[in-house]
Amino acid sequence: MRLFTAGPVACFPWVLEEMGKQMFSHRSPEYQEIHMETVELMKWFLNSDEYLILVPSSGTGLMEASVRNGVSKGGSVLVTIIGAFGNRYSEVVETNGRKAIKLVFKLGDPVDPDILDKYLGEHPEVEAVTVTHNETSTGVINDLETIGKVVQKYDVMLFVDAVSSMGAADIDVKKLGIDFVFSSSQKAFGVPPGLAFAAFSKRFLEKAYEIEERGWYFDIPLYVKYLEDKKSTPSTPPIPQVLGLRATLRKIKSIGKETWFKMYRMRAERIRKEIRNMGLRIVAKEGYESPTITAVYAPEGVSGNKIYYSLRERGIEIAKGYGPLRDKTFRIGHMGHITDEDIEILFRELRKLLKDLKP
Ligand SMILES: Cc1ncc(COP(=O)(O)O)c(C=O)c1O
Repeated sequence: MRLFTAGPVACFPWVLEEMGKQMFSHRSPEYQEIHMETVELMKWFLNSDEYLILVPSSGTGLMEASVRNGVSKGGSVLVTIIGAFGNRYSEVVETNGRKAIKLVFKLGDPVDPDILDKYLGEHPEVEAVTVTHNETSTGVINDLETIGKVVQKYDVMLFVDAVSSMGAADIDVKKLGIDFVFSSSQKAFGVPPGLAFAAFSKRFLEKAYEIEERGWYFDIPLYVKYLEDKKSTPSTPPIPQVLGLRATLRKIKSIGKETWFKMYRMRAERIRKEIRNMGLRIVAKEGYESPTITAVYAPEGVSGNKIYYSLRERGIEIAKGYGPLRDKTFRIGHMGHITDEDIEILFRELRKLLKDLKP
């Protein structure tokens, strides 16, 4: 199957090669070395000189960790919502006993920084703002630089869900003033699921120390302690995924960040060009198209689901529409190991298919 999924995605060959290795203890010196090299490479990748942890979890675990460790019990969070994963953040806030003040934007649009500014002015009780960097359900990427500048005007922290952007879009933690940013292995790093990671600020960690009952599994100060004392994690890490992530980061380091990001940018541009050439409409507002996934409106009278299943029969797996756009759209993921030939075959089959399906 040729994968154009939203994640898990097809793994890079250098990842698969590493992951076949025999296991060893996560308390061994061999593992400690691998762990610390991966942490350092990730800090280099994100330009972070504060804290970075690797966590055995999917991305949502660290979404929960941001709330439990970074917001007082009963405290308020301004959750920006541009699609399904913004909604998930608000649910995570509320189910952890904090208040979510929701700022919802039209599907296909990014966060409007002027409206965010106005909201923050009206809500002095807010302790943190959450942003979905790349909304996987609509294929929209937010402008973190402008959002970061707005948030910095206020005494609030900035939490960023970068699950489907980190690895493909440049995230400069220091420059953007981010307090907590997280992602997971199964997206743009082209590694199987099971490993999550977060970079966070000193200010975030100080806040975490003040909060009681942070839980155990996602207790950020505990992760910091284990990193410093044991060069590992409190519980067993997914060692194959750590090896896989290290392999991708080593690759990026060897070719340079800019070359790597260019690969992702050019792939995304090619896919969007093919879609537009077919006369199809992209959900994302122009200028905010995601480098990792493109949500496309299905032609009139054709369901997105039908396109998904018909492509599967032809050996291609894309992603179904998500949330309120489920029936009207389909999504083409462009993360992980995808070749030029894969893209050629996808569009050849999609063209044939739409010709057959059009009413
Ligand atoms: C933007 C975004 N946030 C959060 C998640 C949840 O991540 P996970 O499935 O790793 O928990 C996803 C998964 O697709 C996502 O795309």
